[in-house]
Amino acid sequence: MSRSTFPGGRKVGLVALDGRSGGVRVKGLVWLVGAGPGDPDLLTIKALRVLQTAQVIVHDGLVSDEILSLAPASAQRINVAKRKSRHSLPQDEINRLLVALALDGRTVVRLKGGDPFVFGRGGEELLACREAGVECHVVPGVTAALAVCAAAGAPLTHRGLAQSATIVTGHGAAGADPELDWAALARPNHTVAIYMGLSAASIVSARLIDAGRAGETPTLIVVNASRLDELRIIATLATLPQAVEGVCGPAVLIVGEAMALADISAAPRIDQAVLEAAQ
Ligand SMILES: C[S@@+](CC[C@H](N)C(=O)[O-])C[C@H]1O[C@@H](n2cnc3c(N)ncnc32)[C@H](O)[C@@H]1O
Repeated sequence: MSRSTFPGGRKVGLVALDGRSGGVRVKGLVWLVGAGPGDPDLLTIKALRVLQTAQVIVHDGLVSDEILSLAPASAQRINVAKRKSRHSLPQDEINRLLVALALDGRTVVRLKGGDPFVFGRGGEELLACREAGVECHVVPGVTAALAVCAAAGAPLTHRGLAQSATIVTGHGAAGADPELDWAALARPNHTVAIYMGLSAASIVSARLIDAGRAGETPTLIVVNASRLDELRIIATLATLPQAVEGVCGPAVLIVGEAMALADISAAPRIDQAVLEAAQ
């Protein structure tokens, strides 16, 4: 006997003997699901199928309404919106909430922007579930850097221009200088994707140039990647601080020679393009 059956017939869930009642009590489970960068077409099929089994959805602020609308209307929605300067629910409480809901027998979908394991604190939630004996599974999502590069047609790696790519956070503790290995990031023919980097753009530019990266290195900034209000900006490492003045919203800064391939002209969202091609 299982708590739920995953579409396709695969059984998921745990059965536990409830000592108090003497009967059988079923435990719930937690799915850590990557919702991708915002465009529902970038959800994986597995993420969609899991979402449709949700009894409770615990989501953060980067999950778009379009994606939330794909969940069953009956599913309870809990917004634990987390923004850099505004933590509406501390991480420990989110961990406890997930565990408590699952121990209460619910199928919980913890829906996170992008991928749960890329600056998503998914690892902490997974560990909390493990420690509490709660079954937990992870569904990967399209992380922001991939959506940003796809949006602008600029590859993270490209033969002759970028032999490696590094993902870093530009968010230093309380606005402090992000503690990064600037010398390593300044290597030429290497792409650096900086998450949460808008407010650190001046520091990033100065530190990389000081460490030897050329000021002319092409730099791409994409805000709200894959969303209807997506904004793409092309700059150089030296002009990055001016390029992001007044810009706000979730953004990834990408520095590297391969960003010379970036195209900022408007492109239709994938769903429109697919529909047009089908006509
Ligand atoms: C807490 S991190 C979460 C990253 C997420 N787990 C991922 O894999 O994309 C939040 C940061 O991700 C980036 N981000 C998330 N969604 C984005 C989007 N649609 N467009 C641009 N950047 C995005 C921004 O740098 C934002 O500040």
